[in-house]
Amino acid sequence: MKKLFLVANWKANKDIAEMYSWFISFLNSDFITWLHEEEKKHDKTIIICPPFTVLSEIVIFLSSHSLKIPLFLGAQTISSFESGSYTGEVTGHMLEELVTYVIIGHSERRQMGETFEDIEKKVQLALSHNLIPIVCVQDIHTPVPEGVKIVAYEPVNAIGSGNPDSPEHANEVAMYFKESKNILYVLYGGSVTSKNVASFTRQEYINGVLVGGASLEPDAFSLIVKNA
Ligand code: PGA
Repeated sequence: MKKLFLVANWKANKDIAEMYSWFISFLNSDFITWLHEEEKKHDKTIIICPPFTVLSEIVIFLSSHSLKIPLFLGAQTISSFESGSYTGEVTGHMLEELVTYVIIGHSERRQMGETFEDIEKKVQLALSHNLIPIVCVQDIHTPVPEGVKIVAYEPVNAIGSGNPDSPEHANEVAMYFKESKNILYVLYGGSVTSKNVASFTRQEYINGVLVGGASLEPDAFSLIVKNA
């Protein structure tokens, strides 16, 4: 069974009330029943990456429901500092009690000045706090730090544009990272919708999708999980 990761990147969206209404709608009983059946046929891992400000509320909410479904939380970034006098930073130590995964090196953060050196430090800190890094790469020339097992190929022009890469090209990029860079899982991200998700996930080398805009609506994201 090919492993698939369906990752929702909420970016800078949703306050606490909006987060609750998303989860209550997403985790409706029909979807949970479907997910239990689906688990017998496909290996799908759902990862929700909300803003930091709602993480602890979600952890409490999910633990009070003990749903036994393959649903995990991720952070959208991590500090490149271990701890100390770094105003505003959210560190690996703070995150490890809240999330399992962390997105590192998203192109929107690189555009805000994040460098490869920062990304390397973030990966090291994530790993040392038992977090699984999902490193975003823009093309085959983007370097990947040591120890990374999951990358998300996200061509900059495809992000939020309604103009995704072709599934065949994304598959070639995924093959390159797996065969030449020893990466275990490659995801595709950039204008993924419920309509085009299967064209990516059925490619041999692609192990899932990283979804921005279409993850903000619970119905749209659950259709992505279903159609993948
Ligand atoms: P998009 O964003 O799905 O809105 O294109 C993807 C991403 O930035 O991770």
